[in-house]
Amino acid sequence: MKNRSHVVGVIAVMVVMMVFGYGFNTKLAAQDKAANQEQVKHGEYLVNLGGCNDCHSPKVMTKMGPVPDETRLLSGHPANEKLPKVDMSVMGPDKWGGLFSNDLTAWAGPWGVSFAANLTPDKNTGLGLWTPEIFIKTMRTGKHMGAGRPILPPMPWESIGKVSDADLRDIFSYLQSLKPIQNEVPAPIPPANSKTGMN
Ligand code: HEC
Repeated sequence: MKNRSHVVGVIAVMVVMMVFGYGFNTKLAAQDKAANQEQVKHGEYLVNLGGCNDCHSPKVMTKMGPVPDETRLLSGHPANEKLPKVDMSVMGPDKWGGLFSNDLTAWAGPWGVSFAANLTPDKNTGLGLWTPEIFIKTMRTGKHMGAGRPILPPMPWESIGKVSDADLRDIFSYLQSLKPIQNEVPAPIPPANSKTGMN
C-alpha cells in the first residue's frame, strides 16, 4: 500500500512537470516568434533605408517614373527582360561612367554588365539556401556567397558590410520572410562580350 502511493506520487509529479514544461515551451516559442517578427520589421526598415529595392526590385512604370513592383519585390533582374545592346563607346574616363536599364536592375560599365540578384528565399534562384553567416560574410568580403568571385558594381557591399552583425541578421531575416519568387538572374557579362552579348 505504501509502495502504491509512492508510485502515484511519482506519476503525479511527472504529470505536473510535463504540463509545466509544455506551458514553458509554448511560452518560449511565442517569445521566439515575437523576437523574429521584431527582426523582420527592423530588417525591412533597414532594407528601405539601404535602397535595396532601387536595384533589386523589378519595376512598374508610373507617371512619376519606375516604382518597385509589389508583386515581386526584390526578385532581381527579370530573366525574360529584353535589353538593347550596350554602346561601350559612350563610356570612358572622360565620357559617361555607365548605363542602366529602365528598371535599374541591369548595369553596364567598365566591369561589363551586372544584373541585380534575386534576394527572395527561392531555393534554386534566390537566397533560399543561404544562412545568416553566408549573408554576413558576403557583405563583409565582397565575394559571391562570401567565398567566390568578386561582387561587381554597383552593388554597395562596402557600405552595407559596415553595419553590425545584428543589423545584417535582421536584413537577412526580412529577406527570408519575402514571398519566394523563381527568377534565374543571368550571370554577369564580361566587358569584352558586352557589345554583342545582349539578347
Ligand atoms: C545600386 C544598385 C544596388 C543596390 C542599392 C543594392 N544592390 Fe545588391 N546587387 C546589385 C547588383 C548589380 C548585384 C549583382 C552583382 C554581381 O553579379 O556581381 C547585387 C548583388 C547582391 C547580392 C548577391 C551577392 C552574391 O553573393 O552574389 C546580395 C545578397 C545583395 N546584392 C543584397 C543587397 C542588399 C541587402 C541591398 C540593400 C541593403 C542591396 N543589395 C542594394 C545592385 C545593388
